[in-house]
Amino acid sequence: MKNFLSVEDVKDVQKLLKKAFKIKKNPFEHAHLGKNKTIGLVFMNPSTRTRLSTQRAANNLGLNVMVMNMDKEGWALETQEGIVMNQNTVEHIKDAAAVMGRYCEIIGIRSFPKLVDKQEDYSEDFFQKFIKYAKVPIVSLESATLHPLQSFADLITIEEYKTKERPKVVLSWAPHIKPLPQAVANSFSEWMQKADVDFIITHPQGYELDKKYTGATPVIHNQEKALKNADFIYVKNWSSYAEYGKVLSLDGGWMLTNEKLKITNNAKVMHCLPVRRNIELSDEVLDSEHSLVVEQAENRIYACQTVLKEILQKNF
Ligand code: CP
Repeated sequence: MKNFLSVEDVKDVQKLLKKAFKIKKNPFEHAHLGKNKTIGLVFMNPSTRTRLSTQRAANNLGLNVMVMNMDKEGWALETQEGIVMNQNTVEHIKDAAAVMGRYCEIIGIRSFPKLVDKQEDYSEDFFQKFIKYAKVPIVSLESATLHPLQSFADLITIEEYKTKERPKVVLSWAPHIKPLPQAVANSFSEWMQKADVDFIITHPQGYELDKKYTGATPVIHNQEKALKNADFIYVKNWSSYAEYGKVLSLDGGWMLTNEKLKITNNAKVMHCLPVRRNIELSDEVLDSEHSLVVEQAENRIYACQTVLKEILQKNF
């Protein structure tokens, strides 16, 4: 593995899953692998779990960690080629990335979509330029379109809590007051298609995700029908992909409640966090034994540690 930007960078998901469980059992087994090496974490957007779990994972491997909050502390970056930089941007990404590549053996990047221009966001130009100019392995800490470390942690969590060989997993859209990226939903869809699960998606009309990520996954617009006999429900809001970045529905009827859980197979409920309580997910579900949100967040450490270990072993 050179870069980790999507499930496509993983040769064998089941093998990677086994490695993650081994690491979770003995997190300090490879404590010297990262000795004298540095990972730089570049944040263009806020984060709690990704920042802390990546630092913890890196520390477990003996890596030095440098965190750069570019959005607050760095120079405003320009990404366009050949531009006359006489406006607000101060440094070109090709210079910043090249310099960071000299300081770090691995770079993790978080860069959200602007949700204005679909083509621009889905081109993942920011990541592609970092790969080109930094010339070191790049790990996605959530891009415009995908959040692979989250999805890997989600898969670890499903594997830990499943009570049957092939559970039914439902990705269920939830309301939110602000337009959010499609990245978590896209990414979860990609990873579920590589997992041993029956996977379906439910959302209101107009919230269809890019088929590049959902493939042949069945989509059911009737949430109640979709939730029937579900073993896991992954709750997440995303803005419209078709009417790019728009909030088309604020229908509170899509929020998951204990009443709705009655039609499931005593389903476990997942969410990547942060969650807006009583908009995306009700208190009664989040505070119940159905909820796996904290377990998912903990598994972010082992997902990340597994990926960093692979990169360290294959590239240095
Ligand atoms: N789930 C997740 O990525 O959380 P943060 O945005 O807090 O990093």
